Amino acid sequence: MNETLMQTGSALMTAALADPAGAPSHPAIFLVLGVVTFALHIAAVAILLGSTGLALYAKIRTGDNWLRLGSTMAFTAKAAAGAAIVLGVAPLLFVQVIFDPFWYASSMISAVWTLIFLALLMAGYLMLYRVHAMEHPVEGYSTRPQVPWLAAALLLFIACGALMHVISNQALFPGNWLDWYAPGGQINASGWSLNYMHVARLLFFLALALPVTAGWIYGMRRWILSKAAARPEDGPYSDFLETVAFRMAQAGGILLLVFGLVWMLTLPAEQKWFVRSVWPYIGLRSVLYFLAMPYIQKKRRLCITCNYMGFVMAVVMTVVLAALREALRVGTLFEASGWNPMALAVNWDIPTLAIFFVTFLVVGGTSLAYILGMAWKAGLGFTGRPGEVWTPPAGLEKLGTIAVTLLVVWVIGYFAVGIALLF
Ligand code: HEM
Repeated sequence: MNETLMQTGSALMTAALADPAGAPSHPAIFLVLGVVTFALHIAAVAILLGSTGLALYAKIRTGDNWLRLGSTMAFTAKAAAGAAIVLGVAPLLFVQVIFDPFWYASSMISAVWTLIFLALLMAGYLMLYRVHAMEHPVEGYSTRPQVPWLAAALLLFIACGALMHVISNQALFPGNWLDWYAPGGQINASGWSLNYMHVARLLFFLALALPVTAGWIYGMRRWILSKAAARPEDGPYSDFLETVAFRMAQAGGILLLVFGLVWMLTLPAEQKWFVRSVWPYIGLRSVLYFLAMPYIQKKRRLCITCNYMGFVMAVVMTVVLAALREALRVGTLFEASGWNPMALAVNWDIPTLAIFFVTFLVVGGTSLAYILGMAWKAGLGFTGRPGEVWTPPAGLEKLGTIAVTLLVVWVIGYFAVGIALLF
């Protein structure tokens, strides 16, 4: 088909699919929030994949240090799965506000797979709980029986990532939708088709698991070191963690560089313009940081702030990579169908916006501060010996009460506003 005709067709089709309500506030807000929340999602995914993989490796290796790390990582994986799911919802909302026709069409073409995605995710998550149930910390750490469960969970999570990747990517090529929906002119409304996978791009995002988890372990090492006075055996263990983090970060940096290069060199014709833009060079800076991270940590191994900053910087670099990914989408959709999220009609909806930010900052903020504060203090308070009892400080207990009260007020307010609007 003539390229201009196809572009006009795509433009007409996506304009017809667009929500006439437009955006409830300036699209730039959704664009920025989309990038930041996607970065947090993919950072949580990275820890999920990295901790599940490391727990699996540790249980295969056995030995005291490996088993201790494997046990901690299996536990971390459970928390990371919860975080990845919660942090996946946020970019999903923003994508639906400013790229709705694209996300909608892609998820309709692969509708059955979006449901299979949920089943795979739930199965993987349950497997992590199975692993947890098999741990016997009082009698020593359990090993082999957990290996098949961790391996299966890891495979399921990678499959989830591959499905997310296909759905995200199909959305970028409206010119192909007709062929995918009606191959050879025959409509296939089964929702079973999966059409576009860019292996190097997928591997790039999956490989983030290594350096981001390494950043996490650098923080863990420092935290364990700070308790080593109470538990002398923690000294050698923290050295062991440092070696593990170093190797993971080293391998991760190299893989990111290789996959990133292959991704850029194999971009489809519609995205070739991207290589000539400034974005790949901005992305390269993040990859170079990841390559340098293990050496920076080695040099600054005694600097407490630097050790924790390893993980913070890994997340910051992930935000940069998320921005690059967003630039690729915005440019591709503009080329393919003239879609410009900034040109969406704005119908200001202040109450919705206010509810969103108040919920996010006040309700979410206090709950998170309570959970993190509790975890931090409990971790420092415990030496890890069986039968130990820890009492939280009064200030934290008070913060917990405030967090729960705010949640209850929010739920009541939510129903009150809904009922008031109904009648
Ligand atoms: C184990 C579970 C998961 C894994 C491994 C995973 C992995 C990924 C990956 C690799 C991408 C980037 C794909 C690309 O750009 O090529 C992605 C994007 C995304 N994921 Fe996940 N994900 C998981 C769970 C979830 C869940 C539960 C949700 C929603 C609740 C979610 C929502 C999203 C969204 C909204 C995007 C971005 C879509 C876009 O910007 O086009 N993910 N995910």
